[in-house]
Amino acid sequence: MRRRVIAGNWKMYKTQAETRAFFAAFAPLVAHSAHCDIVVAPPFTALAAAVDAARGTAVGIAAQNVFWEKEGAYTGELSAGMLAEAGCRYVLIGHSERRQYFGETEESVAKKTRAALAAGLTPIVCVGELLADREAGKTEEVLGRQFRGGPGSLTAEEFSRILVAYEPVWAIGTGRTATPEIAAAAHGFLRKCAAGQFSAAAASALRILYGGSVKPDNIKGLMAQDELDGALVGGASLDAKSFAAIVNF
Ligand code: PGA
Repeated sequence: MRRRVIAGNWKMYKTQAETRAFFAAFAPLVAHSAHCDIVVAPPFTALAAAVDAARGTAVGIAAQNVFWEKEGAYTGELSAGMLAEAGCRYVLIGHSERRQYFGETEESVAKKTRAALAAGLTPIVCVGELLADREAGKTEEVLGRQFRGGPGSLTAEEFSRILVAYEPVWAIGTGRTATPEIAAAAHGFLRKCAAGQFSAAAASALRILYGGSVKPDNIKGLMAQDELDGALVGGASLDAKSFAAIVNF
């Protein structure tokens, strides 16, 4: 049985003060939630506040992005080692908003993933098709390409240490969740890619999170699918009560 992971992606929301207020409300609500790994990804400026507020809880902190070089003249970028030193245990890589607005490619996703692993972080590698891809019947083609260029390009040892998040772009922030069946089919396809690239054992150990308009009222149905090993939650992770309700589905 794969252990589930519920992760919150705050995107470009919350100041340090708001982060402290969130954890003051959230930590007691999940103090006894031992059934899954809990992750929160605040913006960079709130990482220290989040790491501090999460100390002594089971909540792991994630960064939302990383650069692949260790150090150098890369204005505005942060290395995986810097994030690890700041107390991060996870990092989101290749989120669709980064692919769409900041030019992330399969190649940058692979480089970032390897750098994160080398620094001891757990990468949460995001993949997902656009609405146009789905409507054109190209979902598997797109997921296959994203898998091969990103997670599929790792060594078997590296692959065993990542999490994958399936986030259909048409379901992100739109209130249009994939049905549990649609999500499970995509997860099954990604698992098949993992089996083909690595091994059946590696595929069955891989934890795949679903993301895209996950809310307290649809998490139960999604988690009823064995293929779904957790959730990556955007909007509904900003409110302590709502995110706790999702964690405690
Ligand atoms: P959403 O975002 O839950 O607001 O749809 C999910 C994500 O982008 O990770």
